[in-house]
Amino acid sequence: MSTSSPTSPVSVSRLGYVNFETPDVARLTEYYTKVMGFALVDESPQQVFLTTGADHHCVIIDKAEAAAGRSIVGYEIHEELDDAERRLKAAGLHGERRTDIGPGTPDVLVLTEPATGATLHLYQEQDPSGVRPTFDQRPSKLGHVAAYTTSTNGMRSFYEDAMGFRWSDSIGDFFVFLRCNGDHHAANFMQSDEMKGMHHIAYEARDLTHLQTMIDNLARHGYQLYWGPGRHAVGHNIFTYHKDPDGNHIELFTQLDVMLDEDKGYFEPRPWHEHFPMRPTTWEADAAAMNMWGPIPSGAIKR
Ligand SMILES: [Fe+2]
Repeated sequence: MSTSSPTSPVSVSRLGYVNFETPDVARLTEYYTKVMGFALVDESPQQVFLTTGADHHCVIIDKAEAAAGRSIVGYEIHEELDDAERRLKAAGLHGERRTDIGPGTPDVLVLTEPATGATLHLYQEQDPSGVRPTFDQRPSKLGHVAAYTTSTNGMRSFYEDAMGFRWSDSIGDFFVFLRCNGDHHAANFMQSDEMKGMHHIAYEARDLTHLQTMIDNLARHGYQLYWGPGRHAVGHNIFTYHKDPDGNHIELFTQLDVMLDEDKGYFEPRPWHEHFPMRPTTWEADAAAMNMWGPIPSGAIKR
């Protein structure tokens, strides 16, 4: 039972799932199962549910006329859904309780993300997938989802004040990184007046050897990296980027910073850090923040 006050934010514990809209469900499903190694848990001609592990799903593919990403984001919360619903209402946010969202999530609180209009799903737990772990190319988990917004300040306020996220880093005044657990970021937002929707989605590799297995498998299926491997200064993750068949930007990463002690307020020390202790900071918008190892492709920081 939550001991939070009526006005304290919802306590999000982790990123659960994200959806993709596509005109070619079969092609994107083949990419996720054959190339990325996800397990298919449930499917219909209109909708496919995929997982990397114990949760029923972390990726949903929806049939649509045009390709898009992140019109739905699911977050698992620590507390009971009744408490979250009550406190969101006290904060002036309308949430709709739904039991018909789909397989794996029988009880969901649905609300709308400000500025982007994306649909947010809050839930206590998913049904188990029944999928056995593997040690092939399948990612260890869905790591984070980045999106464009017209206001990073407004989005930061919403996620801190209503959803219980904490600020991890910013780049200049246009890119903000937010965490809901120890991982440096589960949600990040780039400010843009022109671009809309998803910026990129990121899946975690266990380690560098796993990342190599993923990339070798991408290459075998004809998918090539357009950036990386490199190391972001912000979050210090080793990254690679490629595009899925619909052109969505996909990051595969490992070694993301973690904050194990929120009271201490610094990220677990790593030899590649610039400061000891390494605390949340606002970075200069320069090449080093994007890639400590060097190369920056044109369009990598498109706004
Ligand atoms: Fe990322």
